[in-house]
Amino acid sequence: MGNAPLNSVPRHVAVIMDGNGRWAEGRGLPRKAGHRAGAESVREAVDACLEQGIEFLTLYAFSSENWNRPQKEINALMKLLEQFLKTKGKEFHKKNVRLKTIGRTHLLPESCRKELAKVIDETSSNTKLTVILALSYGSREEITDATRCIAEKAARGELDPDQIEKETIAKHLDTSEFPDPDFLIRTSGELRLSNFLLWQLSYSEIFITEKNWPDFRKSDFHEALEIYSRRRRRFGRV
Ligand code: FPP
Repeated sequence: MGNAPLNSVPRHVAVIMDGNGRWAEGRGLPRKAGHRAGAESVREAVDACLEQGIEFLTLYAFSSENWNRPQKEINALMKLLEQFLKTKGKEFHKKNVRLKTIGRTHLLPESCRKELAKVIDETSSNTKLTVILALSYGSREEITDATRCIAEKAARGELDPDQIEKETIAKHLDTSEFPDPDFLIRTSGELRLSNFLLWQLSYSEIFITEKNWPDFRKSDFHEALEIYSRRRRRFGRV
């Protein structure tokens, strides 16, 4: 199964990249080796999206809850992110990929924020694919921040509470400029959303694979897309 044209391609794919730790532990390697191998799968996922003409790819790279991991693992993940941005930033630009982030990125170490800002700026005019890294991201935190912002506007008289609609909420989320994901991929077999895009995934098709993220390569991504193309989306209708 390769990258043959599909009947229906999602505009936006979101991915919960899970199982890096288990992948490493299964090989007697430190967890950070799993994250390193996972970064290679990120590169392949981006290529699969480019090959199929997908417009948006959101990757759950570091959750709000991940701050509770041992400091050593957090440091390794931050270092990996920084290295990834340093080496892949140019590659993204060459491939006409735009980089964006969602999440409380102000909590990231300065060195990461600096690299992120650089790649986001350098790729800002690119048009083929937007890669959205969810970093220090939690959906409940995002909805809380949006609610606070709406309440402040209402208190200042800039917004009438009677006029608050679904669109008002969506407009205040980190994802306001992106369409909702059509397709969610989760690796490593866990059957949960883990505080990821709770609002935005309301009507998304879901695909869960037993493979750990470092084993989920380009051909797996294409296979998942083929499964999506056979789904019939009903949005609550018959
Ligand atoms: C989940 O696996 C994965 C993460 C917490 C981090 C995701 C990071 C990467 C894929 C690599 C770096 C990404 C970029 C964008 C450079 P886990 O550690 O929870 O695995 P486990 O459930 O088996 O322990």
